Amino acid sequence: MPHSKPIVTVTRKLPDIVETRMRELFNTHLNIEDVAMSREALEQAVADSHVLVPTVTDRIDADLIAKAGDDLKLIANFGAGVDNIDVEAAHAKGITVTNTPNVLTEDTADLTMALILAVPRRVTEGAQIITEDNQWQGWAPTWMMGHRIHGKRLGIIGMGRIGQAVAQRAKAFGLSIHYHNRNPANPAIEEELEATYWDSLDQMLARMDIVSVNCPHTPATYHLLNARRLKLMKPEAYIVNTARGEIIDEVALSKAIDDGEIAGAGLDVFENEPAVNPKLLGRPNVVLLPHMGSATIESRTEMGEKVVINIRSFVDGNAPPDRVLPTDD
Ligand code: 8YV
Repeated sequence: MPHSKPIVTVTRKLPDIVETRMRELFNTHLNIEDVAMSREALEQAVADSHVLVPTVTDRIDADLIAKAGDDLKLIANFGAGVDNIDVEAAHAKGITVTNTPNVLTEDTADLTMALILAVPRRVTEGAQIITEDNQWQGWAPTWMMGHRIHGKRLGIIGMGRIGQAVAQRAKAFGLSIHYHNRNPANPAIEEELEATYWDSLDQMLARMDIVSVNCPHTPATYHLLNARRLKLMKPEAYIVNTARGEIIDEVALSKAIDDGEIAGAGLDVFENEPAVNPKLLGRPNVVLLPHMGSATIESRTEMGEKVVINIRSFVDGNAPPDRVLPTDD
């Protein structure tokens, strides 16, 4: 890896300010047109670059990594989740992987809270009645009634940074916080959030009014919410997912909604993005967003700054701050 100006290939258009900084520091190949790179283009990039900067839309699997040239030493993901990258294969080939945690926590938690509010309070349905259908006949005492969230129980799956940030917000909205995680949170955090830990996900699911998915997608969490677990939920409960679509079996979810096994869902992520299971469309009790948890100028700029810092420290011979190691999941 040359100390000055390594070849850095960025697979998607990033905020201008990030791209400009990258051009100043590195020999950077940008994707100004933001045309998703074909498999061939990605193969070319891993063969020719010192550093690859992919996003969630690029599959950096073992086959692609096998085609990497000897020069490729760093995959600096623009994104916190690294399920788009075969981290183990990269490490086996001596390629370091980094990500961009922390900077998108608050924005993703905000969007999660927006969905927690939107589904029970029928926010998009109400907006559509005015803006699209122009069908408002005036206020009526029993029309457009939703459900109160204050006083209800929120079950958070995955109490990492984003899960905790969701819990803080939800607590302020009067929800009581429950969570399932591989391990209980630090007692001080549990106390601050007045949170109840469930080591059994099944037990927690059966008791919650709203369930929020905030864990990473790993082999262990793939279809964590499957048909059997969805059936455990209360018929009046809602599911919100701003983590990864693969964590919920989308076919089972649409069937559970069809069959009235759950009351509705707020989804920002999908199993086969950008495809969305057609059965989820056009339902008043399903709010769908196009993977925009971190879509603020602030988050996306700070994610880019993290990518730059990770590359820069790696090139300087230091350990990059956001190194991702293979897990045993
Ligand atoms: C990112 C995300 O925008 O960072 C993540 O894990 O889910 C998104 O908010 C996306 O992954 C960018 O690669």
